[in-house]
Amino acid sequence: MFKTTIISAALGVVFLSVNAQAAEPIIIKFSHVVTSNTPKGQAAERFKQLAEKYTGNRVKVELYPNSQLYKDKEELEALQLGAVQMLAPTVSKFGPVGVKEFEVFDVPYLFPDKVALRKVTDGPVGKKLLAKLEPKGIKGLAYWDNGFKIMTANKPIVKPDDMKGLKMRIQSSKVLEAQMRALGTIPQVMAFSEVYQALQTGVVDGTENTPSNVYTQKTHEVQRDMTLTNHGYIGYVVIANKKFWDGLPPDIRTKLDQALKEATVLNNDVAQKDNDNAIAAMKASGKVTFHTPTPQERQLWMAKLKPVEKEVAPRVGAGLIQEIHQAIG
Ligand code: LMR
Repeated sequence: MFKTTIISAALGVVFLSVNAQAAEPIIIKFSHVVTSNTPKGQAAERFKQLAEKYTGNRVKVELYPNSQLYKDKEELEALQLGAVQMLAPTVSKFGPVGVKEFEVFDVPYLFPDKVALRKVTDGPVGKKLLAKLEPKGIKGLAYWDNGFKIMTANKPIVKPDDMKGLKMRIQSSKVLEAQMRALGTIPQVMAFSEVYQALQTGVVDGTENTPSNVYTQKTHEVQRDMTLTNHGYIGYVVIANKKFWDGLPPDIRTKLDQALKEATVLNNDVAQKDNDNAIAAMKASGKVTFHTPTPQERQLWMAKLKPVEKEVAPRVGAGLIQEIHQAIG
C-alpha cells in the first residue's frame, strides 16, 4: 500500500512538472531600431498580436523597439548567438555578416517605384537572396517595406553639387559609401540610434533616410533643409535565428508563418501613408524647408548617381543587377 502511494505521488510530481513544462510559452525576443509608430514598428506589433493569438499563447513575443535592447550592428550578432530570436534589419545592413548582395537594394535609382521593387522582393530574385542568409545561421522570412529616401541637411540642397564636402551619416553599406562619395560627400557609418545626437553636435552634417524615419527620430528638430530626391530605397528583411526557427514544432511554425504573412500585408498597406504623413507633419512643424527637385534637377541627380551601379557591380554581383533589371522589365 505504502509503496503504491509513493509511486502515485512520484508520478503526480512528474505529471505536474511535465504539465508545467508544457505550459511554458516559447519566447520570441523581437528587437528593432525604429519607434513603434513606423511601418516596421506597426508590423512587428501586428506580428506579436497574431502570433500569440494563432498559437493560443503557446508563443510569447517580446518586442524591443527603438534600439532598446540592441543597436544596429549588435542586433545581428545577438541573433546569430541566439540572444534574440527575430529582427528586421534594413537590406543595407547585411554586409557585416557576409551577405553583401543585399546592398544591391542601396543602388541609387535602381528601383523606379514600389511596383518594380515588389517584382524583385516577391519573385525568384528575392527568394534567392533570402537563401544566402542560411549559411550564416539566419533564416530569411519576409520583406517589409518602408520607402524611398530623402536628403536632410542644414543648408539648401537643390543640385547634387550642393552636397559637396558634407559629412553624411549612412548605414553600414559599401554601396551607400560609394553613393555618398559620388556626391563628393564624406560618408560616416553610424548606428541609427546615434544619428540625432550626431546631427545636434555636428559630428555629421546630414543624413539620408525615409521621411518616416526622419520624422520619428525627430530629425526635423536638428535639420532645417530636406530634399525629396527619392534617390534610393529602404526596406527590411524579417529574419530569425535559423536553429531556433527550424527547431520550432511544425504546427507552431505554420501559425507563425501565417501571422508573418498578415503582418507583411499590414506593413505594405501603411508604409506609403506613414511616409506621406511624416512629410506633412514636418511641414506643419514649420521647422523645415522642403525642396522637390524639378524634372531637370532630377536628371542631374540621376546623372551624378547612375555610375554607382557600375562601380558596385563587382561587390553585389553584375549578374544580380542584370537579374533585377530583367525582373523589373
Ligand atoms: C537606418 O537608417 O539605420 C534606418 O533605416 C533603420 C531602420 O530600421 O529603418
